[in-house]
Amino acid sequence: MRDPWGLNERMFAKWYPKVVGLSEDAGQRETRAELIGQARGRTLELGAGNGYNLPHYPAAVTELVVTEPSPHMLAHLRAALQADPPPVGSWELVRTGAEELPFDDDSFDTVTAAFVHCTIPRPRLALREIARVLRPGGRYLFLEHVRSPDNRLLAAFQDAIAIPHTYIAAGCHPNRRIEALIADSPLDLVGVTHGHMPRSFPSVRPTIRGVAVAG
Ligand SMILES: C[S@@+](CC[C@H](N)C(=O)[O-])C[C@H]1O[C@@H](n2cnc3c(N)ncnc32)[C@H](O)[C@@H]1O
Repeated sequence: MRDPWGLNERMFAKWYPKVVGLSEDAGQRETRAELIGQARGRTLELGAGNGYNLPHYPAAVTELVVTEPSPHMLAHLRAALQADPPPVGSWELVRTGAEELPFDDDSFDTVTAAFVHCTIPRPRLALREIARVLRPGGRYLFLEHVRSPDNRLLAAFQDAIAIPHTYIAAGCHPNRRIEALIADSPLDLVGVTHGHMPRSFPSVRPTIRGVAVAG
């Protein structure tokens, strides 16, 4: 749905940190810690939002490039990075979307993204970009909410509310089949765990997290 004034993006940047904060306090912080703690070497984060992944980067990350296209989220990110920088070798903030990454081929050891493929307008293109910037053997660490794979009623509900959901949540589709998108991309999907987002709206409750590797 079109939003010529960017109003929903501005509002989203205000309410998202508070609403998702409930899930973080209810256990999602530990899920992120387990996933993001696997990052190594030169690392790229896509669509970093207000920065909920930042505290979890380990010292094994030599250089962290944090990206985000929304100027409203970027303001949160800048504040988070300055207030509590992660214990990585160095970090920088770059304003960009995931479909056209301003980075060289084979230039990252790790790419991370959490709850981003729901929103990216062209997710297949973004996955191709991830495969391009990762070195061969480099790892993509992902955490996403998805269309329910096993609850037909919930999946039908996610389909039914998709259009208003994308407006209220700044482009977020509640019903993407993200596991299939990754499986269909140039990356090799090597592990997926199905779970749920604690204390969340049913529309975004089913999740997947895992690892895909660049060939
Ligand atoms: C649901 S929020 C997730 C934020 C954060 N990654 C987290 O884990 O909480 C989705 C994020 O994707 C960003 N985004 C929107 N379009 C994007 C694009 N084309 N490429 C990368 N990120 C995008 C949004 O600005 C927003 O910050």
